[in-house]
Amino acid sequence: MPPSSASHPNGSADVAEVVIVESADAAGELAADAIEHLVRSRPDAVLGLATGSTPLTTWRALAGRGLDLSRVRGFALDEYVGLPAGHPESYRSVITREVVEPLGLTPERVRVPGDDGPIETAGERYERAIDDAGGVDLQVLGIGRTGHIGFNEPGSSFASLTRVKTLTQQTRIDNARFFDSVEDVPMHCITQGLGTILGARHLVLLAFGEAKAAAVVGAVEGAVTSSLPGSAIQLHRQVTVIVDEAAASGLAHADYYRYAWANRLEWERL
Ligand code: F6R
Repeated sequence: MPPSSASHPNGSADVAEVVIVESADAAGELAADAIEHLVRSRPDAVLGLATGSTPLTTWRALAGRGLDLSRVRGFALDEYVGLPAGHPESYRSVITREVVEPLGLTPERVRVPGDDGPIETAGERYERAIDDAGGVDLQVLGIGRTGHIGFNEPGSSFASLTRVKTLTQQTRIDNARFFDSVEDVPMHCITQGLGTILGARHLVLLAFGEAKAAAVVGAVEGAVTSSLPGSAIQLHRQVTVIVDEAAASGLAHADYYRYAWANRLEWERL
């Protein structure tokens, strides 16, 4: 079971919110609102950090807020296994370049799985570090075309914890844009498990573009199944899904989500 959401501004309400916005920039502003609200009330909040293209507008929006984020602690969702240290596309490098530096986070307060010794036992150490930090307050998530969150590819247990996984060929093809060729994309990764992700107190899942529409439908409205790992979010009591029109295009209940958001109560926030 995910931890209690009692500290969330919506109190004990069980909130699963789908917000459809006109652009990735608008989504980034909304996600940044949620992070800003959290950090203003808890300057040493624990953020779960996704990499990839999706969260970039969130980081950009947050950087524009002028917040002091130096006490925030961060845990990356995942990392490639097998890239040389300092490789520009390692998620350590990406997090440093896209998050730590522009947002003014303190580098020592940001962890990436596998950054502290042998990979075989890195998962256990990462779980312990997250526990020692008191758990993740807000986890930013993207979703892959295979339905993965983190790098939990189809078949991942909903109880899984941080561990080494094999990337699907589809994910390697999708991420080849960051490398010279698909062969250069590592085959292995270390990723927070679905159980780890479900342990965060608030999940904010973002998705943009037509290519994500099927994964979004599966995650939000499909059967809860390890064949579509993102569907695990349906088991969490505090989820915000922020999507653009293209990513929302397959949602059966899109009109209801729009209506609910347009008529949200004045005190409701993400
Ligand atoms: C990245 C991660 C992945 C990505 C997903 C979408 O840390 O965990 O789940 O969020 O592959 O990637 P983009 O955003 O590049 O489309």
